[in-house]
Amino acid sequence: MLSIFDTIKKVAIKIDHAIKTEDLGYSDSENTSGEEQLKLDVKCDYIIEQAFKDISIVKALVSEEKEGVLVLHDDGKYTICYDPLDGSSLADVNLSVGTIFGIYEGELKGENLVAAAYVVYGPRIELLLATKEETPLHYRANEGLFDFIKEIKLEEKGKLNAPGGTQQNWSGHHKTFVDDLFAEGYRLRYSGGMVPDLHQILLKGGGIFSYPGTSDKPDGKLRQLFEVIPFAFMFEQAGGQAVNDKGMRLMELIPAHPHDTSPCFFGSNYEINALKEAYGVKA
Ligand code: AHG
Ligand code: MN
Ligand code: MN
Repeated sequence: MLSIFDTIKKVAIKIDHAIKTEDLGYSDSENTSGEEQLKLDVKCDYIIEQAFKDISIVKALVSEEKEGVLVLHDDGKYTICYDPLDGSSLADVNLSVGTIFGIYEGELKGENLVAAAYVVYGPRIELLLATKEETPLHYRANEGLFDFIKEIKLEEKGKLNAPGGTQQNWSGHHKTFVDDLFAEGYRLRYSGGMVPDLHQILLKGGGIFSYPGTSDKPDGKLRQLFEVIPFAFMFEQAGGQAVNDKGMRLMELIPAHPHDTSPCFFGSNYEINALKEAYGVKA
């Protein structure tokens, strides 16, 4: 597993360089989710594939930017599911973007995730790593290496509200839930990149990020294997919760297809309990 974490650190430095220097225009292709790929999405995907192809414990790769499963080593132990560049449409306006990794052992489903990591490319490069044994560990890049900063633990209740999805297409009960949080004094924090938005909630002690099912996208937008489940793991390991619109733990998701999406809610305990009540799914 250490070789995987070391590779993630090397990849982070290379992707940061690509973001700063590469063409930000569109490629002439779409990904499996029907989104137009930027040249930068394709480049970051290539950087990650090249970095893992000689790591023998990596059995396969599943990427947001690739259709199926890319088998690397039949005898490998782990499959790495990743979003090479999350929030890539924000790169041209110079907002923060990220890379997300989920490391799975065995069949690709939530309960088989053994570690997760994400990188934020902002004014600095930051990395969070989480394993089953520990709370997430926060690192910051310094001259191409990563300094350990601290362990990340959420408070019981936060102050930030990051509500995703097109508001026009929200359900009535979701709108009421979001409005009630603002009426309680929560502050809006939403950049449109789940990595910096969730990173802010994790580092500032708590709050909630939601991306619900909507009338136009009943299963939400965010993809289970490389967006939803890795962040669900981060939040649970930090002492928070991550559930879907039925109140089910996102860690229990079993995707039928690598690019399946799910409504998702990540937060500290107070806000997720309030969400379950608002959705009528409180146990
Ligand atoms: P990606 O750039 O990998 O396709 O992901 C973008 C995602 C996520 O980062 C963000 O939370 C969400 O899309 C934002 O969606 P809206 O524009 O619908 O708010
Ligand atoms: Mn993404
Ligand atoms: Mn992406």
